[in-house]
Amino acid sequence: MRLLVIGGTAFLGRHTVEEALRRGYQVTTFNRGLSGPDRPDVQAIHGDRSKPADLDQLAPGTWDAVVDTCGFVPAVVGESARLLKDRAGWYGYVSSLSAHPAWPAAPVTPSSPIHESPPDAGPDDGDYGTLKAGCERAVEQSFADRALLVRAGLLLGPYENVGRLPWWLRRVAAGGQVLAPGDPNVPMQLIDARDLANWMLDSAEAGQTGPFAATGPAGNTTMGRWLGDCVEATGSGAELVWVPDEFLLEHDVETWSELPLWMPTGPDTAGTWTVDVSRAQAAGLRSRPVRDTVRDTWAWLRDGGTLAPPRDGSPFTMGIDPDKEKRVLAEWASAKPVA
Ligand SMILES: NC(=O)c1ccc[n+]([C@@H]2O[C@H](COP(=O)([O-])OP(=O)(O)OC[C@H]3O[C@@H](n4cnc5c(N)ncnc54)[C@H](OP(=O)(O)O)[C@@H]3O)[C@@H](O)[C@H]2O)c1
Repeated sequence: MRLLVIGGTAFLGRHTVEEALRRGYQVTTFNRGLSGPDRPDVQAIHGDRSKPADLDQLAPGTWDAVVDTCGFVPAVVGESARLLKDRAGWYGYVSSLSAHPAWPAAPVTPSSPIHESPPDAGPDDGDYGTLKAGCERAVEQSFADRALLVRAGLLLGPYENVGRLPWWLRRVAAGGQVLAPGDPNVPMQLIDARDLANWMLDSAEAGQTGPFAATGPAGNTTMGRWLGDCVEATGSGAELVWVPDEFLLEHDVETWSELPLWMPTGPDTAGTWTVDVSRAQAAGLRSRPVRDTVRDTWAWLRDGGTLAPPRDGSPFTMGIDPDKEKRVLAEWASAKPVA
């Protein structure tokens, strides 16, 4: 298998490259050379996919399969798909559940509508999810029934470059009372990037195509269980102090970012963790236990792993300010009903 990975040096793409090499593929990567070092055993081509002259470096090549992990602008993704149309047999595009306008308010399936964005939309023609939908159309224009459209859910694991699980692990490892958000029993739905990478390569080998909702099984953990996994993995003895959603919202704690993955259940979020993944499971997607993901991510951090920089060069914004966390915990201690 000759595989081209557009991206390949940060998180999901990096796992895809590692797994492809483990399987004995010949791997080419195309990226700007900013996010991480090239592996010596790949053919590394450096360039910015949004610059036609850079992309033209791919013109002499041919590949059995392409995995595109860094497509965010339809017009740009369209350029690569057109260039590769007759040079590659199959195109796996990493989209997102955000391509569905209904998500996260409602549960979605791979047949749920995606945003209206056209295949030639530019960077300012919509938000992240809208543009992901346009990118899917841009790939389909050139690859039609040779395209796998991977609508990924929340990705965790070693190399995570968003900083969600790394923030929690470091916070829990620091010990003491940890502000734990909401209801510990709320079911969640997470996927390890290594499982997604494996499945994309299985799909490339099988020539599997079409749209898939690609995340873990609904309820594969809960907030309580995976934060407990963080305590166990780090061995810190941290005490999780569970504070209800309403109290946190009243105290201006930001959902999703200040306490990563915290999404209070409400009309706008009811489908966050209830995506129908039956099509992907029937097509071979398998998920390891979230506990293993947490353990391996901590092992990576403990051994000196560092996060690849955010792709737009902005600073990391995950996690609550320590003073604010202390203040909210103190206010909760004096406000909570006596048991
Ligand atoms: N994280 C989540 O929870 C989540 C959820 C749903 C979907 N997704 C999707 O999953 C994908 C995750 O990707 P990843 O970051 O893990 O992949 P990755 O392939 O490991 O890293 C991104 C790669 O893209 C390259 N890149 C960025 N801009 C580029 C450009 N203009 N031209 C060429 N290469 C460029 C980066 O290298 P250089 O910087 O060196 O160019 C890097 O190699 C994204 O498409 C994201 O939308 C993520």
